[in-house]
Amino acid sequence: MPPEPVRLDRRRFLTLATLSTVALAAGCGQPGAGRAGQGNGGRMGWTTPMRIPPLQVGEVGADGVRRFSLTAAEGTSELVRGRTTRSWGFDGPYLGPTLRANRGEQVAVGVRNELPETTTVHWHGMRLPAVMDGTPHQPIEPGDTWEPTWTIEQPAATLWYHPHPHGDTAAHVYRGLAGLWIVDDPDVDDGLPHEYGVDDVPLVIQDRDIGDDGTLREDRSIAFWGLMGNEILVNGTHDPYLDVTTRVVRLRVLNGSNARVYHLHLSDGRPLHVVANDCGQLPAPVAVDEVTLSPAERAELLVELDPGATVVLRSRSRGHGIDEGDFDIVQLRAAASLADRWPIPAELPAPPSVRLPATPTRRRFVLAGDARINSRSMDMSRIDEVVPLGAIEEWEVWAPGVPHNFHIHDAAFTVLDVDGRPPPAHLAGLKDTVFLPSGATARLAVEFGRHADPTTPYMYHCHILRHEDEGMMGQFTVVEPGTEDAAPRRIDVDDHGH
Ligand code: C2O
Ligand code: CU
Ligand code: CU
Repeated sequence: MPPEPVRLDRRRFLTLATLSTVALAAGCGQPGAGRAGQGNGGRMGWTTPMRIPPLQVGEVGADGVRRFSLTAAEGTSELVRGRTTRSWGFDGPYLGPTLRANRGEQVAVGVRNELPETTTVHWHGMRLPAVMDGTPHQPIEPGDTWEPTWTIEQPAATLWYHPHPHGDTAAHVYRGLAGLWIVDDPDVDDGLPHEYGVDDVPLVIQDRDIGDDGTLREDRSIAFWGLMGNEILVNGTHDPYLDVTTRVVRLRVLNGSNARVYHLHLSDGRPLHVVANDCGQLPAPVAVDEVTLSPAERAELLVELDPGATVVLRSRSRGHGIDEGDFDIVQLRAAASLADRWPIPAELPAPPSVRLPATPTRRRFVLAGDARINSRSMDMSRIDEVVPLGAIEEWEVWAPGVPHNFHIHDAAFTVLDVDGRPPPAHLAGLKDTVFLPSGATARLAVEFGRHADPTTPYMYHCHILRHEDEGMMGQFTVVEPGTEDAAPRRIDVDDHGH
């Protein structure tokens, strides 16, 4: 990664982007594949019904534990029509099932690794003990099964899971390892559509660089941002369309890309009604023209359609680099007559926002330099921050140079302000990842989970996966209040990370 200052980064990036445009223009025969930096806009065909990841609700045993299983393995997929791609997935060749469980339940997941490499599986957005978190400290060797268990104690939300091996997260996610985890709250009646795959539809949006021979290209030498491509996949589907049979459809959107930022909007200008952020619902739907999602962020959107209408969900270009290029994401095709089951609700049973105490502990994080946070690069044996259990803290994160984002494990936060301005209403819900445009400072009110463990850390990091892999990540522990000073700042880590 090039050093700050930023203008150098940008110039270097632009040069590389220009070079790859030339390379693509010379070598790419696929119509609609787009050109680096130009997106896939203007292409004609919506040829493939959008895949819906299978739903896995697990099985509840006599002990009341809801058990899931996931097997990570290599496979073969047709990501782009007519091309065969070697990829990785959970219980299938690419991506993984959507897990679904209730608040209040104890869950367990058997995660089997049939890959040729050591990996981990992290439960992004989940509040759980650090030893269950699936970080680089809980590796799963090839042939092994790991079975974390915890109780779900958090509001209804769209969470997700993905590998988190030290230095290899970008490659493992890029090859296809990711899936959604829907948390329902049986005690709350939100009036939102919830029939999976019908009126409650997952959209895992990813960009990939797929060669004419089907190869998922992993050229690590280009671009400061890491792996990006001009083929947009939704749930692993290229050129997807979705048949909609209800007047209102709920889209659970995950930006599952390694680096790309999307500015989502609908082709005919109709609004997106945002009903939830990363970790929970908003107090009321917020109608907006555009929703920005950086990697790992989620938004739940309601779209209202007229009978027979076709509308395209698109991303519009902004600037250069991670949000450059106009992209068509998915075409929504409304049936000639639409069931009218769930009108857009006037209010939602939102969880309370996180409020700071009168004199909160403040911590400051600067994302800059050579993949560093506060001038330090990730060290698995170093504990950077120690947080007392039950604390609500003010975390200020600043990206003085190029854009980054910032994710905190085991936490939910409210964005207090960005550059001194409160966030728009559609970003006022509980989150675990915040986008930091170039130069931005975000102030967060952060609530951590309920599990103390002074020797097993959680992470905070940029979720642009190359940056994370290169060290833009730090570690924190949660400890019993009053034991902060005694808590270890170094831990033993063997070469497999545990
Ligand atoms: Cu989704 Cu530490 O990551
Ligand atoms: Cu996470
Ligand atoms: Cu970054």
